[in-house]
Parts: sequence; structure tokens; C-alpha cells
Amino acid sequence: MEVIRIRPARVEDLAETAKWMRESNRLTDKELLEIYLRVYHNGVFVAVDNSDRPLGLSIWCALNPYLGVGTKVIIRNDMENRGIGKQLIAASKKCLGDRNIMVNSYDSAIGFWDKCGFQHEGCAFGVYRGIVNKAVNLRPIFQDGQISVGNLCHMDKVIAYDEAITGYKGYHREQFLLECIRRDSDFILIANMDENICGYLIVRKITDVFLVAPFMANTNAMANSLFYEMVQRLPKNSNIQMYVTEQAPHAIQYILEQYQIPKIRVGRALFTKGVISLPGMDTLLTSVPF
Ligand SMILES: CC(C)(COP(=O)(O)OP(=O)(O)OC[C@H]1O[C@@H](n2cnc3c(N)ncnc32)[C@H](O)[C@@H]1OP(=O)(O)O)[C@@H](O)C(=O)NCCC(=O)NCCS
Repeated sequence: MEVIRIRPARVEDLAETAKWMRESNRLTDKELLEIYLRVYHNGVFVAVDNSDRPLGLSIWCALNPYLGVGTKVIIRNDMENRGIGKQLIAASKKCLGDRNIMVNSYDSAIGFWDKCGFQHEGCAFGVYRGIVNKAVNLRPIFQDGQISVGNLCHMDKVIAYDEAITGYKGYHREQFLLECIRRDSDFILIANMDENICGYLIVRKITDVFLVAPFMANTNAMANSLFYEMVQRLPKNSNIQMYVTEQAPHAIQYILEQYQIPKIRVGRALFTKGVISLPGMDTLLTSVPF
């Protein structure tokens, strides 16, 4: 009989894990999983079979003394419904202790989370994925500020802006954001007004899809301008993916409709001990990625 073991993930597990995650239509690659391992090293667990091959993955990160996040819980297709998911959730105790835990679940998996004690509902989000129609020309109306391509020199200010909105000061957030802009294929766009950051987005190429996250902006005009500038920089027929929070202003759904990016899935945040609210929810356009 197959004995399933849960153990900390190692870098050698990640190529195979990324492969079966992609077979389940998850946007990931080995490099992205390596980032998670570098940033959240003691929070990344795999379920392995008798031959030590990974069949499931869970990633947990502590955001502050009271709140932790489950960023990924996924089981290989052919191994679902054998209790492996439950075992991977139990592993969170090792790194998160008794913290309130938040997960972003697709609606199709809410029954599973319910059985694991995650119930209180937080914000909802939609997953948008599609090829950007570059022929669309939504003229930016952000006239008093400017959009620039960011680099390492801008990151202190970006991190301070991000932390003020998410409330996730300290812990892994800074390292995660720095990891997001290390590769030449990725870029960060920053909206500035009077030297102050008032929005930003990061674009990260994963296989043939450009993941747009995080994406935050103080006003609709800044969001529109950031999106417009991003589209100018993407190659023709680029496929993008975004996780848009329901709390985001209607304008962002309008922008996605205009560029013909369809909503492909819906999900919501769930908690073990009750909903927390993020300080800058109105400014947050994407559900905060980790
Ligand atoms: C959702 C998922 C993580 C569950 O893991 P799993 O190993 O299949 O689940 P388990 O076998 O540990 O199931 C635990 C309990 O939840 C139930 N359950 C599992 N998946 C469920 C689902 N999608 N809907 C409702 N109940 C579900 C099981 O029947 C079981 O109930 P029981 O304790 O009464 O027997 C896994 O099926 C998966 O990876 N699915 C695809 C990706 C996904 O949706 N991930 C969720 C992150 S948003």
C-alpha cells in the first residue's frame, strides 16, 4: 500500500511539482516555486509517495504574529480525495502555530476548506485570463503624474507603499517583492505624483502567460494609466492573468472588458478565526499574491 509522507520541500521537488500543477491548469513554473522556497523556506511542504516523488504541495507564510496565509494547496489530479490535502493543512501548524490562517480558495474547493475548519468569508476575487487586444486604446487620463519603469533603486519606496496598503509590514513581504523583479523578462511600473508613489504593478512571465500582480493604485485614473503603459510594453498577442478583488472599483472590470480579458474563475478568501480587513482595500486591485 502507498504510504504518503509529508516533508519540507527541496529544490529538487520543484520541476516535477510545477509540471503536474500546469497539467491542472495552474499558472506556475519551476522558477516561481523556487522563489517561494527561497522566501518561505520552512513553510513549503510536499506530500511524497513511497519513491519520494511529490504528489501534493502546500505553502504557508506568516504575515504577522496573528495572521498566516496558505498560498498554495494542491494535490496531483490522480491523487485527490485520499486525505492528502488534509495532511498538508495539518503541516501548517509547524510554521504558523495558532495564528488565524487565510486562504484564497476557488469556489469549487470551498467544501474541502469547510471540512478543514476554514469558514469565515473575506473578500472575493475573479481570475481573468486572456490575450490582450492591443488595438484598444483607452486613453490615460492621469495627467498630473507619470508612469515609469521601476528598478531596484525604487524598491524601498514601493515596499513602503505596499506595506501601508496590505498591512503586511516586515516578515516576508519585502523579500517577496524583491524576488519578483529579478529577471529581465519581468518589469515593474510605478505611478508617481509629486515624487510620491500612488500605484504600481508587477508583470512576471510564467511559461507563455504574463501574470500581473500585485496591482495597486490610489485612483481609477492611475490604474488605467498603469494598465495602458503595461499594454504598450507587452508583445503582440500576449496572454495575461490577473486576480482582481471584488472590492476593486468597477473601472478595473471595465478596463479588462475593453481589452477583452475574460473572467475564467471565481474564488474567495477564507479564514480559520474570522475575517481581517486590509487597511488599503480600495487601493488593492489584485488579491495580494505571495
Ligand atoms: C482541493 C484539494 C486541495 C483537496 O485535497 P484532497 O487531498 O483531494 O482532499 P482530502 O482527501 O484531504 O479531503 C478532505 C475532505 O474534503 C472533501 N473534499 C475534497 N475536495 C473537495 C471539494 N473540491 N469539494 C468539497 N469537498 C471536498 C473530501 O471529500 C474529504 O471529506 P471527508 O473528510 O468527509 O472524507 C485537491 O483536491 C486539489 O488540489 N484540487 C485542485 C486544486 C484546488 O482546487 N486547490 C485548492 C486551492 S484553491
